[in-house]
Amino acid sequence: MRVAVGADHAGFGLKQDLADLLRRLGHEVVDLGTYSTDPVDYPDIALAVARAVAGGEADRGLIVCGTGIGSSIVANKVRGVRAALCHDTFSARATREHNDSNVLCLGARVVGPGLAADILTTWLGAAFEAGGRHERRVRRIAAIELEESRPGQGRCGGTPQESSPASRPGRT
Ligand code: RB5
Repeated sequence: MRVAVGADHAGFGLKQDLADLLRRLGHEVVDLGTYSTDPVDYPDIALAVARAVAGGEADRGLIVCGTGIGSSIVANKVRGVRAALCHDTFSARATREHNDSNVLCLGARVVGPGLAADILTTWLGAAFEAGGRHERRVRRIAAIELEESRPGQGRCGGTPQESSPASRPGRT
């Protein structure tokens, strides 16, 4: 897989470790910075990684900042990006299976390198459960992105029930 990676100064060290891990696992790494611990603004790095994924230059993205929160906020503003902030392996697997997330965000001040490596390998190894309710919901995300990007149309039509006709109690 071609993986675009990026980090701010807070995530730099962990990004280096995880980029090495990706290469050892046979992935191609596109390193979009930062390249030192000199302070940089996470929005610029997160945007570069998100655009690489949205534009098809990378299959997946990995962004590391101090908490992972700022990066995930930025990445999710790019159409077509579904960025997931994960600090446990359950969420990492679930967000691939349910949300088809294409960018993983990590907080280097939250998780240690061992757990971060497990989260990344779990996320890369899990597959989207296509063809059912999860695909319908991901399509709905895409429709919402489109709707919200239209000037003067800052609302999405339909109630949750109307937009998800197959939703029933007991379904997950
Ligand atoms: C940098 O100090 C820090 O704010 C950043 O790495 C990140 O945690 C933002 O969400």
